[in-house]
Amino acid sequence: MTTAVATMHEWEVAPGRVLAVAQGDITRFDTDAIVNAANSGLAGGGGVDGAIHRAGGPAIMEDLERRYGPLGVRSCPTGGAVVSAAGDLPARWVIHAVGPVWHGGTRGEADLLASAYATSLRLADELGAASVAFPSISTGVYGYPQALAADVAVLTLAEALVAASSVRRVTLVAYGAESARTLTDAVRRVAPAT
Ligand code: APR
Repeated sequence: MTTAVATMHEWEVAPGRVLAVAQGDITRFDTDAIVNAANSGLAGGGGVDGAIHRAGGPAIMEDLERRYGPLGVRSCPTGGAVVSAAGDLPARWVIHAVGPVWHGGTRGEADLLASAYATSLRLADELGAASVAFPSISTGVYGYPQALAADVAVLTLAEALVAASSVRRVTLVAYGAESARTLTDAVRRVAPAT
């Protein structure tokens, strides 16, 4: 049994626009849109991708197939994102974002990661979502160092949140306590400067 998601920290980026850090299983999070750390084949996998497909059920894969074609045909570039239904999840939509594989930071990883976050938030905004939850994209199987990834996530989402129309609350959901601390530290580093 997984535990519910607990909010650890909140930053009001602009009046009525909140960037929050929470800890727990993102599939349990009650939000309009939930972001998945997917691969470019939109094929499912382990980590948070596996958890989202398990919790949401086959409807997510079926909807991906309907919208973007069968496995092996559909694809999403690194730094991009696509939308699907959310099946049995509490969320209404899943936004499948493709983060970069970490290669030491010399292959445009930071720009690609920022693009994955910004594109996801833009899609959520276009859908009319008021709240969106993100995992720490690329920081698991793809090996992006957590603190570096947290800075990219916080900076990118804060900027995008100010510019958004419908999205009012973005939550970065860390699975473990250490990741939650890393994200909170990143918010504390960025918040006073903006
Ligand atoms: N809730 C919140 N966060 C989670 C959960 C969960 N249920 N499960 C894992 N995480 C966290 C991990 O701890 C990590 O910090 O999500 C972060 C991203 O890790 P991955 O899921 O491994 O994603 P990523 O590094 O982007 O790699 C993507 O992994 O499974 C495959 O199909 C996926 O090929 C793609 C690759």
